[in-house]
Amino acid sequence: MNLNPPANVIEVQNLTCGYGETVVLQNVSFAVRPREVLFVIGRSGCGKSTLLRCLIGLLKPFQGKVLYFEKDFTAADTNQRREILKSFGVIYQSNALWSSMTLAENVSLPLEEHTSLSAADRDEIVALKLTEVGLAGSGALYPSELSGGMKKRAALARALALDPAIVFFDEPSEGLDPITSRDMDRLILQVRDILGTTMVIVSHQLSSIFRVADRVMVLDRDAKGIIAEGKPSELAAKSSDPRVREFLRQGTNAEERSDGPSVDEKTEALSH
Ligand SMILES: Nc1ncnc2c1ncn2[C@@H]1O[C@H](COP(=O)(O)OP(=O)(O)OP(=O)(O)O)[C@@H](O)[C@H]1O
Ligand SMILES: [Mg+2]
Repeated sequence: MNLNPPANVIEVQNLTCGYGETVVLQNVSFAVRPREVLFVIGRSGCGKSTLLRCLIGLLKPFQGKVLYFEKDFTAADTNQRREILKSFGVIYQSNALWSSMTLAENVSLPLEEHTSLSAADRDEIVALKLTEVGLAGSGALYPSELSGGMKKRAALARALALDPAIVFFDEPSEGLDPITSRDMDRLILQVRDILGTTMVIVSHQLSSIFRVADRVMVLDRDAKGIIAEGKPSELAAKSSDPRVREFLRQGTNAEERSDGPSVDEKTEALSH
């Protein structure tokens, strides 16, 4: 029996990143455990998407390291990098589906790029992935024919195409109504429970945080880093930072009501 605790899926060590001369995040360190659903939250402009870009290799860090399964992604050569890239799927804030391609073609794309599967095998996986996200039979549709919720699901299906260990999801509920957003939360938990996927999710949606997150990490623009980290309910009860407590307590209240304050009202709580 292996009594060793499982290794971290992601480890971020002293990461500093930004654009040109501007540092957005400075000396940030954290780890993500297997099958964990980690939410990254904070007001607009605090660097959530920037952190994600660094984690997935779209932005080169000024300093520091990102490790996947103890392998250094930051220092990886082209082949190692390609291997590591296969271990995660990404859903960008804008979904980034190709509008000239059907859903099936969108989901098939990573399989064409990263595997030598036959067209028939690819079609089978595409059908399975569409089913996993509740879009069975919608493969022939184009992104313009989809509702906002369906687009998010399709982007998730594409991110899952290569059975990644990790999924990064930038704003799963952005632009969705409360019911569709709740469905998306359910789907995220299903994917974690059935496929065992580790999830790193950027979100503004407080109700989702309480429904889905094992842990939240609060980023702050002025601090250029993490100002609080923990279970949402624990942070709401006893974070040492009043802004964090206030922000999360609105989420607790929002859970008790069927609607809740608007996203803007909620994020306002994190302003100074
Ligand atoms: N491509 C870019 N070039 C220069 N600066 C950028 C770029 N993208 C973001 N920034 C700046 O970096 C900071 C962090 O932006 P980022 O998009 O990471 O924030 P965010 O937390 O994702 O915000 P939101 O909640 O609005 O999505 C902001 O000041 C933003 O203006
Ligand atoms: Mg963003």
